Amino acid sequence: MEPSGLMRAGVLCVLVVQLYGFSREFGLGTGTPRVRRGAEPQLEQPGCDLRAGGFDLAKALGNNTHKCVFDYLSGSVSLSWIGDRTGVILVLTTFQVPLVIMSFGQSKLYRSEDYGKTFKDITDLINNTFIRTEFGMAIGPENSGKVILTGDASGLYHGGKIFRSDDFAKNFIRTDIPFHPLTQIIYHPQNSDFLLSLSTEGNLWISKNFGAKWKEIHKNVCLAKWGPSTTIFFTTYLNGSCKADLGLLELKRTKDFGKSFKTIGTKIYSFGLGGRFLFASVMTEKGNTRRIHVSLDQGETWNMAQLPSVGQEQFYSILAANDDMVFMHVDEPGDTGHGTIYTSDDQGIIYSKSLERHFYSTTGGETDFTNVTSLRGTFITSILSEDNSIQSVITFDQGGEWSPLRKPENAKCDSTAKNKEKCSLHIHASYSMSQRLNVPMVPLSEPSAVGIVIAHGSVGDAISVMTPDVYISDDGGYTWARMLEGPHHYAILDSGGIIVAVEQTIQPVNVIKFSTDEGQCWYEYVFSKDPISFTGLASEPGAKSMSVNIWGFQESLLSRRWISYTIDFSDLLNRECEEKDYTTWLAHSNNPNNPADGCVLGYKEEFRRLRKSSICQNGRDYIVSMVPSVCPCTLDDFLCDFGYFRPENESHCVEQPELKGHDLEFCLYGRQERLKTNGYRKIPGDKCVGGKHPDREETDLKRKCTSNYLNPSQLAVSSSSTPVILAVIGLMLTTAVAGVVIIKKYVCGGRFLVHRYSVLQQHAEANGFEGADTLDAVTHAGKTGYHDDSDEDLLE
Ligand SMILES: *[C@@H]1O[C@H](CO)[C@@H](O)[C@H](O)[C@H]1NC(C)=O
Ligand SMILES: *[C@@H]1O[C@H](CO)[C@@H](O)[C@H](O)[C@H]1NC(C)=O
Ligand SMILES: *[C@@H]1O[C@H](CO)[C@@H](O)[C@H](O)[C@H]1NC(C)=O
Ligand SMILES: *[C@@H]1O[C@H](CO)[C@@H](O)[C@H](O)[C@H]1NC(C)=O
Ligand SMILES: *[C@@H]1O[C@H](CO)[C@@H](O)[C@H](O)[C@H]1NC(C)=O
Repeated sequence: MEPSGLMRAGVLCVLVVQLYGFSREFGLGTGTPRVRRGAEPQLEQPGCDLRAGGFDLAKALGNNTHKCVFDYLSGSVSLSWIGDRTGVILVLTTFQVPLVIMSFGQSKLYRSEDYGKTFKDITDLINNTFIRTEFGMAIGPENSGKVILTGDASGLYHGGKIFRSDDFAKNFIRTDIPFHPLTQIIYHPQNSDFLLSLSTEGNLWISKNFGAKWKEIHKNVCLAKWGPSTTIFFTTYLNGSCKADLGLLELKRTKDFGKSFKTIGTKIYSFGLGGRFLFASVMTEKGNTRRIHVSLDQGETWNMAQLPSVGQEQFYSILAANDDMVFMHVDEPGDTGHGTIYTSDDQGIIYSKSLERHFYSTTGGETDFTNVTSLRGTFITSILSEDNSIQSVITFDQGGEWSPLRKPENAKCDSTAKNKEKCSLHIHASYSMSQRLNVPMVPLSEPSAVGIVIAHGSVGDAISVMTPDVYISDDGGYTWARMLEGPHHYAILDSGGIIVAVEQTIQPVNVIKFSTDEGQCWYEYVFSKDPISFTGLASEPGAKSMSVNIWGFQESLLSRRWISYTIDFSDLLNRECEEKDYTTWLAHSNNPNNPADGCVLGYKEEFRRLRKSSICQNGRDYIVSMVPSVCPCTLDDFLCDFGYFRPENESHCVEQPELKGHDLEFCLYGRQERLKTNGYRKIPGDKCVGGKHPDREETDLKRKCTSNYLNPSQLAVSSSSTPVILAVIGLMLTTAVAGVVIIKKYVCGGRFLVHRYSVLQQHAEANGFEGADTLDAVTHAGKTGYHDDSDEDLLE
């Protein structure tokens, strides 16, 4: 069984020829054929036997298992793919001993060009410098092949040092930089030559030539982000600190790498970017609450988002955003651990309430919100119910409607269920992981593996702390089946053609499980004679790869070695898929007899999908193919406009009663004027045509507005008399502009929504306007405006 090995300083890679490899086959669903909504609803469990089809697992995998043993080092191992389809993996192992004043550490750097089958020690390329693991490996965007490693700089030199490579880590250049970076260096998302970094002193540095030369462009900076083109947005403090001046920060912008600056907002608490939207939370005149303002032109003009204001102890968070819309979480007052999800219109201004009691922990800043990327419009998250249990909910229409996940066929409700027959599936996500439950991974879905979702879960009335099982859905979350018993690490390979899993146990492991039919039948493959303490699975991002790396270590009294096994499945799937291996699948299909079956946001999508029974390679060039078709409109393609709401269980929008004879707190201003409405707006991204259109007469809401006009130069104003004057000017402007613009804009149909708007209104009034919030000195460390981990999606 031994090796044709290749010894290099620090790493030994061998091809493991498995003479003892065997496989066990099992299907959790076997014997209880379930009706699946997937590609082949009529397909019964065939009984799991790959060998019946002429496959010799030991042969197919035994010659394709590669083992690498890394130098004995304790500490951590981190791994990055460089480029797409290059097979280049960079592995950094570090060993660190914290001493009293300084820390002492050692790093090793390894590089693979063949997806991990062999590694070469390239530590000498970085001159044996200790690399700061917490800064990670900064990999350039797109396929730029750029890498930056940040060296430890606890030496005498007054600056830091970085190692740069622009050739997929073949060569590194050491560059001394005149500052110590505070966080990982940030690439421009399109141009990998443009870098920005914050120094430990709070200065903003930029480079235009991939880090060769650096220039300080501003001091007292709290948070900086790349915007479109060469724009940089950043917040600055005046004479305090980022923390002390929270709510007094200035938001600035430069478009010319620091030659000129423009202050685009003051009294800023924090800012964030999502899709086309620039958001800032701005303190109100009252001083103890803040509100979201949104700009679509990089801060030239702002509109106040129609969202409730929040007090000191609350927060806003952008859960997900694309160019069409955002999901925004608004925390409830008090330490409740929940808030409300709002979905925006395509301008980021009008919001409709999407989900109440949305769970978002106050302690760790954790949310379970998950974009199911394998089915359009689908998201999963958790709610905190009245009895404080956590329950999972799913939406298939971008937040329009949420429902519990369907109970897997044949599953038994667990002890959390009051009614043993009636319960639903609950999904473990980030929160469970943060609570150190036995949940090794968050839910997994990949755009290239259409319809597949894999997640840990339990079946009952609420999420359970018992050991979870792994569930799979092949239709984007409509139906679920138990895939594996107990917690596992999992990965999707070959665009869904293969799913692999390794059981999470405290015992060392030497078995990997795999399935070629979307998780129905499973096979076990013993990849090594000596079990390893398993730490995780890694596969190339994008799920198009055929190989997977199993990482772990082996410990003896004296040493601990990192070990990776790379298993290439391409000999198992030794045939390229042909037309007959595919079938068509209508996404979101519920009822084939209904002509509107599969319509979501105004269109249906028919995908070409691999048949479960086909054992073949999609290959790296596989592109998901899909035929869209538009649907006729129904009232469900519209949301209630500003000032309207949908009574429960009704599809018509009715005017909010509290608007009659009252002024509107939220109005739209300036150029975005849009106050004439028939009560309906099309949902952002909805493509329906013809069919049913709301045909109500338009009413003009602008008379009802108390304008609260804000524009960039006035953002700064804090004296109490000015806003009143501005309000008058604002109103006049509005009126003048309105007559001309509104009709045109409106007839062309802005795409908009507000369902159940009335609740939002009450909410806003109950909240903050009377200064009802007690100003609590307790700040929520995880959620304040500046994030060291620079999480793009969290506004604050
Ligand atoms: C591995 O491959 C060699 C030739 O490529 C072949 O002769 C040998 O039988 C294979 N071993 C196994 C276990 O299949
Ligand atoms: C590595 O370190 C040596 C001695 O400290 C130095 O002379 C050499 O220039 C360094 N090489 C690189 C690539 O940094
Ligand atoms: C800056 O300091 C001055 C004087 O100490 C103080 O009056 C002012 O409020 C401070 N400004 C800010 C934004 O903290
Ligand atoms: C969810 O993920 C899909 C696929 O990656 C993406 O196209 C979409 O924009 C995401 N939605 C949001 C709201 O972020
Ligand atoms: C709405 O429909 C649900 C289920 O169909 C029902 O339980 C609920 O009572 C209805 N609400 C109203 C206000 O009719």
